[in-house]
Amino acid sequence: MSINNPIGDNRLETYSCELYDKSDSYTNDVQFIVELLKGKGCTRILEPFCGSGRILTPLLSEGYEVHGLDYSSCMLRRAQERIYRATFDRPPKYQLVCQNVVDESWPIGYSAVILAANCFWQLGSQEEHLAMVSKSWSSLQKGGYLYIENDNMDGELPDSWCKIDPEPRPWKSPKGRCDDGTVIKSMIQVVDYDKKARIWHAKKQVSATMPDGETLDSEWFDVYTHTSSAIDIREMLKKSGFVILGEFKSTDGEPYEYGCGRAILWARKE
Ligand SMILES: C[S@@+](CC[C@H](N)C(=O)[O-])C[C@H]1O[C@@H](n2cnc3c(N)ncnc32)[C@H](O)[C@@H]1O
Repeated sequence: MSINNPIGDNRLETYSCELYDKSDSYTNDVQFIVELLKGKGCTRILEPFCGSGRILTPLLSEGYEVHGLDYSSCMLRRAQERIYRATFDRPPKYQLVCQNVVDESWPIGYSAVILAANCFWQLGSQEEHLAMVSKSWSSLQKGGYLYIENDNMDGELPDSWCKIDPEPRPWKSPKGRCDDGTVIKSMIQVVDYDKKARIWHAKKQVSATMPDGETLDSEWFDVYTHTSSAIDIREMLKKSGFVILGEFKSTDGEPYEYGCGRAILWARKE
């Protein structure tokens, strides 16, 4: 079962989605994915953790049929709006499905699966990372492609991560001012960690202060992160029957090196 709870309150989630879109508008990964897919004969793409369609929408513009999965209806609403705003040479073929990608099964019959934008860091265990690889395998047709991109942490959790917080402290995300003037802040308290297994467990709270002074606090919820390592994912891919076509440390296509800060794995289902 997936253990990282969404923020819960609808207004807070809406504000958090707005701030997410404002902060995460980079496109270098999208360009890299488009390059990798070029000339491979792919038609239907699945993007679990599609969020507000930052990657999915440009893939539609490239003429692919794209299906996005995400458990946040708020993110999917923003994806729908992004698609409405975009222009296409021909009517885009897409589906946006609200589901938990850890707990529920994925649709099948795809020529590519995209697991981008650090999505493994949303997951709390090695088993959940492995589940993403094996669900990708099931969703892909034979010969289909898998793209995985995450911040990379080879080895153990660094010491800076291994500190229990005696008190909650301000956190970086979500944080900021929304268009209507509402200010969002987050607090975090690290309560546990496993250095060797690279698991980090914190309690988190998100709060909003509206322009009229009204405040809204989420419940404290658990965040478990199993940080992602290219070495582990490489093994999972091999065990699941994928052939690894490329390992990169950046979207410039530079090769992966042990301990680098980002890792992209590009594989094919044999
Ligand atoms: C970091 S965002 C990435 C969004 C998008 N791929 C992008 O590049 O902008 C991660 C997304 O994963 C979704 N998510 C996290 N855990 C999930 C789960 N277990 N099931 C479905 N969606 C999940 C969140 O709602 C969020 O929209």
